Amino acid sequence: MKNDKRTYLFGNWKMNMDKTKIDHFFTICRDRMLSGSVSGDIVMAIFVPFVYLDRVVQTVRAFGLADKISIGVQNVHPEDRGAFTGETSIPMAVECGATFSILGHSERRHIFKEDNTFIGDKVRACLKKAIKPVLCVGETLEEREDKKTWSVIENQLEKCLDGIDNPRGLIVAYEPVWAIGTGLSASSEDAQNVCKMIRVWLNDRFTDYPGRIPVLYGGSVKPSNSRELLSMQDIDGGLIGGASMDAGSFIDMLEITGNM
Ligand code: PGA
Repeated sequence: MKNDKRTYLFGNWKMNMDKTKIDHFFTICRDRMLSGSVSGDIVMAIFVPFVYLDRVVQTVRAFGLADKISIGVQNVHPEDRGAFTGETSIPMAVECGATFSILGHSERRHIFKEDNTFIGDKVRACLKKAIKPVLCVGETLEEREDKKTWSVIENQLEKCLDGIDNPRGLIVAYEPVWAIGTGLSASSEDAQNVCKMIRVWLNDRFTDYPGRIPVLYGGSVKPSNSRELLSMQDIDGGLIGGASMDAGSFIDMLEITGNM
């Protein structure tokens, strides 16, 4: 049990949802969250496709949920403006109401070939602006089988956090690639072990920083395993893909978390 700690429940919609589904999602959130069923010190955020950012922010405000649900984006470009076709800048995301951005998600790393240097540029740019970066790290199945889990993660942390003096606002998510979208979650012990190693590394790297940098776990988190995973000592919350698109499941997890 860790009643003394703030818990983070972050939903990553990826390239899913449409206007009708979005309205339905927040109608259910309004009905259940405003009836007081969710308690506890929980930071909830939904990471939406850019094209729906404005709509989602307006809906959350209109439904009276703005103090309960933050909105984030799934990626940003490190430059403020320029000839970067198809990209979106941090000032644009902030102007439309985003307060968080996922960075270095394994789908960005593997499908879109983003490397640690580029992801690090984004983390540094976010930390300078009013947007909190959620840096994703994690090993592939092959790397895990080769017993390279920690060396891969340490390299990702070193490169993506290079040059950062003040990590205020930073969140790190451990997302083993083999657990994402597969239904195959890491065991709570394995997830705890890696999250603890990340925490120790962060504490050593930012010795002067007095706060606790949140470390989340992501990879097939759902209502049936959320209690066990999120009650682990060094797991401060979940980054949830598939199960975050169903408002009922997502709020079930909020209620479970609030009652831990
Ligand atoms: P999943 O995705 O919950 O569907 O496994 C997690 C993620 O990609 O962040």
